[in-house]
Amino acid sequence: MCGIVGYAGRKNVIKNIMTGLKSLEYRGYDSSGIAYIKDGKINIIKKAGPIKNLESKLNYNDDASIGISHTRWATHGRADDINAHPHKQGKITIVHNGIIENYDTLKKELEKEGYEFKTSTDTEVACAVIDKLYKETNDMISTLSKINEVLKGSYAFNIINDDIPDTIFGIRKDSPLIVGISNDGNMLASDIPAVLHITNKYVVLDNYDIVVLKDDSVKYYDRQGKEINKEIKEYNNSLDTISKNGYDHFMLKEINEESEVVKKILNIYTEDNHVKNIYDIRKYKNIDIVACGSASFAGQIGKYYIEKYANIRTNVYYASEYRYQRNFFDKDTLVILISQSGETADTLAALKLAKEHNIDTLAIVNRRDSSIAREADSVIYTEAGIEIAVATTKAYLAQVIILLLLAIKDTKEEYKVIEDIKLLPNLITKYINEYDYNAIANVLKDKEHVFYLGRGIDFYLSMEGSLKLKEISYIHSEAFQAGELKHGSISLIDEDFGVVSVVTDKSISDKTISNLKEVSARGAKIITITNIKDENFSDYKIEVDDYNEVLNPLTVIVPMQMLAYNVAKLRGCDIDKPRNLAKSVTVE
Ligand code: F6R
Repeated sequence: MCGIVGYAGRKNVIKNIMTGLKSLEYRGYDSSGIAYIKDGKINIIKKAGPIKNLESKLNYNDDASIGISHTRWATHGRADDINAHPHKQGKITIVHNGIIENYDTLKKELEKEGYEFKTSTDTEVACAVIDKLYKETNDMISTLSKINEVLKGSYAFNIINDDIPDTIFGIRKDSPLIVGISNDGNMLASDIPAVLHITNKYVVLDNYDIVVLKDDSVKYYDRQGKEINKEIKEYNNSLDTISKNGYDHFMLKEINEESEVVKKILNIYTEDNHVKNIYDIRKYKNIDIVACGSASFAGQIGKYYIEKYANIRTNVYYASEYRYQRNFFDKDTLVILISQSGETADTLAALKLAKEHNIDTLAIVNRRDSSIAREADSVIYTEAGIEIAVATTKAYLAQVIILLLLAIKDTKEEYKVIEDIKLLPNLITKYINEYDYNAIANVLKDKEHVFYLGRGIDFYLSMEGSLKLKEISYIHSEAFQAGELKHGSISLIDEDFGVVSVVTDKSISDKTISNLKEVSARGAKIITITNIKDENFSDYKIEVDDYNEVLNPLTVIVPMQMLAYNVAKLRGCDIDKPRNLAKSVTVE
């Protein structure tokens, strides 16, 4: 959500900035813009729509010395040219990721003092605040050490001051910002992919760190304005992770990477069929799993595993609700936060709440050095590699496998379950290549509404299957506990309604099948993903293997993802960057 790239360099400044900005497109955006210094003067260009609209207005050969740029995901004000970043007030030009919660009050105060605002954004107000503080202090470090007293909310800023045209200033609070360091210049961006074309050396900024970036130096200051040192890290994964590698879409590439992800997890977290390097949850009486979207659906499967194998009462909450509900934090509770990006604002806020109550926190996170990974008491990395497609696939599967390992650690089932998981990589490859998903996708492609039906763990899987379909194909879809349908929602069913059922759990499949018969009787055609061989309840079937209660649910994940992918492809959707969505949701 919103991408920031600033560069102070000796050559190709605009080109390097734009390469970085394009590498952040995956985060989701609806307009973009750039500000750069040429001949000591600031130039600002911004356009609604895809980055190519901005590029059409840019001269790549302009001899710029420094620049800052932004992809905006609209929060305050429409996604148009005017509201796009950068914004300028007085001597200050900024790009911003985050939300200034008290912008309205500040705006009224600043208007009284003579500031005029051209946009509806909170960012332009923050820009005026910085300009005002700079007028008072005449010093950027003092200014930035004071903004936390004025601005409420979250921010990562790249800032240019007309008086200091060779420098980019940065500061962050609850929105990520990293520095890329190279011999030819330095970058200040919201994520590592944005700097990899110039360097693999980076520094992660902590909340309130202030950074002062020139083409040949980077200095860091703490919130009191005292100079500090920061650790320089190296990113050693190959650049392949952010290219499509011949696949039509990142989503398809990432589904294809799932076998390797499972192998990597087994390699890191198991030895001789025992779990290693994984947190011990058995001392807790209650577990709250807190997450958003797909990560929360992985959490639901985690609940099923933890209750089954570790025998600990577990509840799953959406992070956006958790913060505002009544929580019974007692000392025997563990709060598990699950997040691919590690930057999701609601999940981060839930983590902070748990910490305020002195509750132990464990993060299951994909992105190293992310805020959630660094702030939780303990962290388990899901090791799925960078995920670019907005719709998560490999990171979701990795979350599920980690939760399974967490649940079985030191139980009598540990050995056998790991033996089972080892079969998964080959099954994943088989399921990607074996089925004609296109044929089944054709059945769904013109539907307006789809129900995903299942019971027990099959319902939890359905939640993810349904989200995958709706977010990338724009077909309205909902997951239902199959038995619940007849209490109202079955009135929607007719021959035009799409129905996908997930049936892997033999202990309850008879009941699910009865529910599916009720749906068939009302004219709907049923697509089933199941391990039941001789069945008479589906019109179209994706048949997965029948092993046991551990492996069976895991087999349907890739077929569900492939089905959604193929429907979206048939409908000509922008699969990797669905409308309105952002990869990393850094606003609450
Ligand atoms: C859906 C999807 C989202 C994320 C959710 C949480 O495909 O990717 O529902 O799961 O936004 O994001 P993270 O895991 O980064 O906290």
